[in-house]
Amino acid sequence: MDRPSHPLISVPVADEPVGEPPYEVAMTRRRRRVLPLPPRDPVIEAMPAALRLEVGRTWQRRAHEELKVASGFTVLCRELLETGAPPEVLSIVSRAVHDEVRHGEVCRAVAERYLGAAVSWPGEISPEPPPPQTDPRLRAAYHVVAVCCVNEAIAWTFLEASLSETRSHTARVGLGDLLADEVLHARAGWIYLACLAAPLRAAIEANLLTLVKPVLGGWWEEGPIERIEGAPEHGIPSLHATRRSAVTALRDIVIPGLERLGLRVEPTRIWLTEREATLGAPSSVQAGG
Ligand SMILES: [Fe+2]
Ligand SMILES: [Fe+2]
Repeated sequence: MDRPSHPLISVPVADEPVGEPPYEVAMTRRRRRVLPLPPRDPVIEAMPAALRLEVGRTWQRRAHEELKVASGFTVLCRELLETGAPPEVLSIVSRAVHDEVRHGEVCRAVAERYLGAAVSWPGEISPEPPPPQTDPRLRAAYHVVAVCCVNEAIAWTFLEASLSETRSHTARVGLGDLLADEVLHARAGWIYLACLAAPLRAAIEANLLTLVKPVLGGWWEEGPIERIEGAPEHGIPSLHATRRSAVTALRDIVIPGLERLGLRVEPTRIWLTEREATLGAPSSVQAGG
């Protein structure tokens, strides 16, 4: 088995000496604090008031979205505990609950800077409906693929693309804080898959397209984390750029990673190529298309 080359796809290789128990590193990782935002931001101060309000509200909605991700990791953590996942996977996924709550605070704090007023902590999170699978191992395996391997790879690509265009130092600090965790969150999925029993891997392979489609759909539709036309200087890409990030993550990270683990990915690759062909130029994007 080749070692996948992307930093998000780091998995143990059977014939490679591992030295110390792999879970030690993740379990002793220091807890991170929310990075302090700069006291002044000339880019924000120079903004038109209406745009400043809109950008601030977008960051406020992002705080709520981060808590939804925390809720997803909470459910996944319980599923992994109940089905005996490897310790390194458990340590990362349980840690991810904390990380995503911290991301909520990062976004709330950035929103305050844009709005120039106190922003309250996001409200309660409605739980996602439970998936139809009744086999707990199958449910956990599908959930890991969707949450870690696919969604976190897209999140990482989205944040990295956002950061490359952001001029506001406040937004840059916020984005960088979020980005720093996503590699590890995604990696939990690849470690889990590398250790997974053959029948469960076969089930993932057979249902891969069904697993991937809704995750891409969540980034494809106009959502609460971006504007259709974007505000890239402030860490908010356009809907077209968001879709581009989602496609890029699947094409360059997720599909090659699954392929290197021996899964047949051709139907998913063909579907993605067709989806990518509908992207068009930035100006031709239609909301919800
Ligand atoms: Fe996050
Ligand atoms: Fe994450």
